[in-house]
Amino acid sequence: MEPFYIPTKIYCGENCIKHLSKFKNPFIVCDSFFSKHPIIENLISQNEISTLFTNFTPDPSLDSVALGIAEFSKKDHQSIIAMGGGSAIDTAKGIIYFSSETSVPFAVIPTTSGSGSEVTSFAVITDKKTNTKHPIVSDKMLPCSAFLEPQVVKSMPKSLSADTGADVLSHALESYVSLNSSHFSSPFAEKAIISVFKFLKKSVDGDYEARKEMHYASCLAGIAFNHSNLGLCHAIAHNMGARLKIPHGRANAILLPHIVSFNSGHKSYSDQLSDVGLKYAYISKLLGNTGSPQVLVKKLIKDIKDLFSSLSLPESINIGENLIGEIAECALEDGCIKTNPVLPTKEQIVSILKEVR
Ligand SMILES: NC(=O)c1ccc[n+]([C@@H]2O[C@H](COP(=O)([O-])OP(=O)(O)OC[C@H]3O[C@@H](n4cnc5c(N)ncnc54)[C@H](O)[C@@H]3O)[C@@H](O)[C@H]2O)c1
Ligand SMILES: [Zn+2]
Repeated sequence: MEPFYIPTKIYCGENCIKHLSKFKNPFIVCDSFFSKHPIIENLISQNEISTLFTNFTPDPSLDSVALGIAEFSKKDHQSIIAMGGGSAIDTAKGIIYFSSETSVPFAVIPTTSGSGSEVTSFAVITDKKTNTKHPIVSDKMLPCSAFLEPQVVKSMPKSLSADTGADVLSHALESYVSLNSSHFSSPFAEKAIISVFKFLKKSVDGDYEARKEMHYASCLAGIAFNHSNLGLCHAIAHNMGARLKIPHGRANAILLPHIVSFNSGHKSYSDQLSDVGLKYAYISKLLGNTGSPQVLVKKLIKDIKDLFSSLSLPESINIGENLIGEIAECALEDGCIKTNPVLPTKEQIVSILKEVR
């Protein structure tokens, strides 16, 4: 088993942000939505040196990272602070990964409840020339502190809350059945899954307490998959999202029920469920379902579909015939596939893609 560790200090709750003051003279990578937020204005007014970098788009590109590295090196910054969703956080991580000079403390304030990037050694950077998302992995990019300030997720529109919540469920379920899951990652995944089913709908409807719970669930799922890695759902979603220009969480939402079905062998109609099928059956039981293992897996798939449909997430997407083979081939190259409990063939990925279009 890989060693389990959580080096990131997690601060959570209203005003936990007050502990941010120890990060001096920061290079601030900030989602433009938050560039005038009091947290950012205070950071700028309270430090002699600071730079506000907002020059990146969702699904950050290698070009944005290069611009960030150039800006970072102009001043003597003593810390890096990222405030925003997965895209802002991964831009900061890309700057840290590709720059030779950065060994300063790195703090993160996530503003979506989805990526879990505040506690992971992963970043996803897009090569716009090939329309490919590249997951990169290095502990060099692990934030030393994460500030889960729930007030910043109040402004998420419904669709963002739904997309990112679907990402949380995908992280937690993929982590739970990953070949690298362990006794230490699984409890974080289980807790996140229970929270999603209990709080995501209310959170999307704007309930503040539920949004808080989803913000913490996102981080719990991040802790789980940082240890175990992900699986087939993310391997396909990275390549589907980049080519079809759909938000990361929504791509996962479309795929997830089909991945659970594929991994569990649910369609093989054999009497015996595989070990991974039994894992899904256990999760289904945790959600209150009853029945034989086969019935439990069916009910889990139905629960996922019902939840996503109650959030108006789409069940399918138009994928051109010419893209299907390309997405399947690139998914086989994606680092997330290595820990999927069942290694798929290209033909099996193609049939999953045909199911969702
Ligand atoms: N590093 C990891 O471990 C990891 C894990 C999962 C996903 N990702 C990556 O993260 C990215 C997706 O991140 P995301 O889903 O958090 O979305 P995002 O960061 O791409 O943000 C999406 C949109 O939401 C807006 N936004 C963010 N917070 C807001 C708020 N509180 N109120 C209103 N608007 C807000 C942004 O301005 C942006 O327009 C993808 O590139 C994905 O590949 C990384
Ligand atoms: Zn994800």
